[in-house]
Amino acid sequence: MKPLKIAVIGLQFGMAHIEGALAYGAEIVAICDCNAEHLRAAGKRYGIAEEKQYPDHRALLDRSDIDAVVIAVPDQHHWELTCAFLNAGKHVLCEKPMALTREDVRAMIRAADDSSRQLMVGQICRFTPAFEKAKALVENGTLGDVYFLESEYAHDYMKLVDNWCSDPLRHGVIGGGCHAVDLLRWLAGDPREVFAYGTHRLLPQVPYDDATVAVMQFDDNTMGKVFVSTGCKRDYTMRTVIYGTKGTLICDNTSPTMTLFTVGEDGMAHEPQILEVEVNNHNAAREFEAFADSILRGQPVLTDAREGAKTVEVCLSIIESSKTGRPVRPDYSF
Ligand SMILES: NC(=O)c1ccc[n+]([C@@H]2O[C@H](COP(=O)([O-])OP(=O)(O)OC[C@H]3O[C@@H](n4cnc5c(N)ncnc54)[C@H](O)[C@@H]3O)[C@@H](O)[C@H]2O)c1
Repeated sequence: MKPLKIAVIGLQFGMAHIEGALAYGAEIVAICDCNAEHLRAAGKRYGIAEEKQYPDHRALLDRSDIDAVVIAVPDQHHWELTCAFLNAGKHVLCEKPMALTREDVRAMIRAADDSSRQLMVGQICRFTPAFEKAKALVENGTLGDVYFLESEYAHDYMKLVDNWCSDPLRHGVIGGGCHAVDLLRWLAGDPREVFAYGTHRLLPQVPYDDATVAVMQFDDNTMGKVFVSTGCKRDYTMRTVIYGTKGTLICDNTSPTMTLFTVGEDGMAHEPQILEVEVNNHNAAREFEAFADSILRGQPVLTDAREGAKTVEVCLSIIESSKTGRPVRPDYSF
């Protein structure tokens, strides 16, 4: 089978995608970044010739030798580049969050529907080893019936306060909090209602709350909670706890162990089990593999346009609730 021909656009986090594509055996036929220094540095690092380096993505749209494009530019530009490349007949792996507004998300869904190409949204937590294991333990019944689950996205954005992350549209709940929201959606389904509080006392330089807590209810009365802090004074964590009728799991994307509590037939607690797990909170290689396999096999991607959009919809509902003080029912009718 011929190797997939890939272009990667946006060459900071995008470099993880270059590595993922190379590990898969794909061919990098173009890289693109509007910052000449970033473009040159990525070219040098991965031995990508100068004639394959582009400062403007528009020069790539008509290239018939590109099968798929990875878009890793600031969130505000996801919709524009994704729509352009889908319209130009390329498959797209777009970074999370899919977009920052409902309008942009809808435009991307339309573009995906109108093309015969795949749009995958890079909700990378679905490839984090600890969360893959958690998903398996939920699905194989080890935890019993899950009645409550919580995840947090606590990540100090102090070093990001002067860049595009400070756009009011790029609220922490959608920018990074989308990871925790997407994880809960993956494990428990789509929340029917959310309610949130926010506070703002850690990063006065940014125009949005730097800590938000949201509770939510799923269709089967499972309850959920997401905590997002972008000003926290601690190392990055996505601590996640899943409570079921037969057991409880505590895990994280930055910890080498997970703790599993289970009970015997008599309902009495067993000794907790410490499960070892690989730490890989940016598993771009597995994400690319899933994207490329779907393209080559003609199968749907795991996080298609509507999956990405639902996560954005829950994030926007949380932000709305924290501002209005009212519960919000996400609208999934895309
Ligand atoms: N999955 C994850 O865990 C994860 C981690 C980090 C970043 N991200 C996402 O990846 C994307 C990029 O984030 P980052 O941290 O690399 O940002 P960054 O600002 O560090 O880098 C963005 C790069 O894109 C370039 N760029 C900007 N606009 C462009 C355009 N129109 N055309 C070509 N190049 C352009 C910039 O020059 C820069 O080199 C964002 O969507 C972010 O949310 C995801």
